[in-house]
Amino acid sequence: MANPPGVRKLLPLLSTPHKAGRSALTCQYRCGNACAHELGNTSDNAYFGDVVKEALSRRGMLRAGALGALVATTGVAGAAPALAGGSASAAAGNGAANGAADSQLSFTPVRPNTDDKLTIPEGYKSSVVVRWGDPVLPGAPKFDFDHQTAAAQAKQFGYNCDYVTMLPMGKDRALLWVNHEYTDETLMFRGYTGGAKATVEQIKIALAAHGGSVVEVERVRGTGQWKLVTSGRRRYNRRITAQTKMRFSGPAAGSDLLKTAADPKGLAPVGMLNNCSGGMTPWGTVLTAEENIDQYFVNGDKVPAAQRPYITRYTITEGVPEESRRFDRVEERFDLAKHPHEANRFGWIVEIDPFDPDSTPIKRTALGRFKHEAANTTLAKDGRLVVYMGDDARFEYIYKFVSKERYIRGNERHNRELLDEGTLYVAKFTGDSPKGDIDGSGTPPKDGEFDGSGHWIPLVSGMKSYVKGMTAEEVLVYTRVAADKVGATKMDRPEDMERNPVTGGVYVALTNNTDRTAAQADEANPRAANKHGHVLEIVEKRNDAGERSFSWSLPLICGDPEDPATYFAGYDKDQVSPISCPDNVAFDRDGNLWIATDGNQLGTHDGLFVMPVRGRERGYLRQFLTVPIGAETCGPMVTEDQRSVFVAVQHPGEIDGASPDKPASRWPDGDQPRPAVAVVWHGEGQKIGS
Ligand code: FEO
Ligand code: CA
Ligand code: CA
Repeated sequence: MANPPGVRKLLPLLSTPHKAGRSALTCQYRCGNACAHELGNTSDNAYFGDVVKEALSRRGMLRAGALGALVATTGVAGAAPALAGGSASAAAGNGAANGAADSQLSFTPVRPNTDDKLTIPEGYKSSVVVRWGDPVLPGAPKFDFDHQTAAAQAKQFGYNCDYVTMLPMGKDRALLWVNHEYTDETLMFRGYTGGAKATVEQIKIALAAHGGSVVEVERVRGTGQWKLVTSGRRRYNRRITAQTKMRFSGPAAGSDLLKTAADPKGLAPVGMLNNCSGGMTPWGTVLTAEENIDQYFVNGDKVPAAQRPYITRYTITEGVPEESRRFDRVEERFDLAKHPHEANRFGWIVEIDPFDPDSTPIKRTALGRFKHEAANTTLAKDGRLVVYMGDDARFEYIYKFVSKERYIRGNERHNRELLDEGTLYVAKFTGDSPKGDIDGSGTPPKDGEFDGSGHWIPLVSGMKSYVKGMTAEEVLVYTRVAADKVGATKMDRPEDMERNPVTGGVYVALTNNTDRTAAQADEANPRAANKHGHVLEIVEKRNDAGERSFSWSLPLICGDPEDPATYFAGYDKDQVSPISCPDNVAFDRDGNLWIATDGNQLGTHDGLFVMPVRGRERGYLRQFLTVPIGAETCGPMVTEDQRSVFVAVQHPGEIDGASPDKPASRWPDGDQPRPAVAVVWHGEGQKIGS
């Protein structure tokens, strides 16, 4: 179906974009201006939903046989995926016309726009599920923008929702887990002029507004709409904040590098920060990724000389910038001059068990420390657990973790230790076209495609380091430095990364990298000054997530389709929607790729897109929704029944010059903008995208 007329018309920019394409506010608050299942069974397509549902019912969380509305978007694809046609590599990699089924997507795409609302396709409905300040814990006070308190915030939904996932408790009840990535004090408090002058209460509110939330939700019977449960026991509802007691596990737990005055054993970190996206485990827990942790500390330049290079490599704040949040004014540990190792205690993948409200969140050190964007899991053909991870910054790397032991169905105690022992790898990509063909313009090489081969370089396995000059503990705590040493491929901001539950292809969103020069262009990152980003597809050897070599290609090179330096897997560019800055990726049960954007550089708002990755419609990208002024689209999550899609609308109204007295957005309630999770469903109950 063709785009509506005028879909390409570029609209004026709302504000001058910052270097990464965001408003200066987003840059400052989000990333601290960082720009500057037994599954030896290989015969069946074991969907993640089925694996988790079984695990949860064993734990008594889910009535046997209940068809939960479990998220189908996280790709525990099990063993070799069942393919609709052709070999794995053909379907996932190059199969434009391999006879695979069409996508069954038939909605009319939304037009790119700059409207201050959630714009959805005709025939669909939407509603806000939960917004900043809504009650999470029983007894939470009603949200009062001008009289917010830290005590209230600690019981209410936090700020800037990002990763969203669903854990079923039956057909019409579920838990939602939502990350709260960061706070934007300029929009949260009237007259805010920086952490140096902030009230202590404001700083405490910010600490409490970080972290994550578990909330119980219920389906509006017979529809795809879900609502927050606001009465009754809600025994699982929970807030996790920057002040929640956690623990380290894995090889680096107890390392000298993690010890502080408050925690001389290096085992008990407090709080999590900047949790961006995440993933789920086959045993039904959540993995949440600490991303831009560098901005929360002061005096990074005052650490001992031997630690300095690592502070620099992780871009930890030096000095005491007035505009920073100044958490150190409330908790001394954020001052690295006094507690130099505190920064090492952030930047991890944290595991949370939403069905055990008393559980201690676990920072899993075997997965390395960097600016973790997400952590999506799958199982290798032999049943080992695999976790895919990106480090979201310019010229950073793509990682995967492969557990030593295999996942054993029903053996909860065993499975829960899989994340503590295994091998951490980093990716190396090699193009198959001559270097001269890659000129930085984005013009495809003579063989017609940006593609090639690659392999996973081992960094560390338990207490064995594969990196010369670094101990295993050093590799885990200073993973970026280790990856530098082994010659990993520098990517254009590797964000979300997930395995397709149908084809087995692994997809990586590479958001952008305006700093890449033509000389630095390579076949996997082929555009200089890459404003709009691209999507990378990895097909591992024998389509086995446990393998160490792979082939890869770029099915999507983003931008305005009229721009010759764009590519939509060879699909007719007259038919596709423009897209810029792919960030979060997810799959529906049919294996269609859903892409959320952050920082649209085409002059219109961010949104959610869907693109088939196999069959005749491979590359047929269509825009499903747009978000309000200043917002980015997070989540996204398509429920397993494909009757609902959830998105987190993060930082609405966050544009330069905006403040509570001058709000740039009035979404969602016509008052101050409030970051919120929304759900979209078809008015007549049809499948999402139909
Ligand atoms: Fe929090 Fe990389 O986006
Ligand atoms: Ca090529
Ligand atoms: Ca993101």
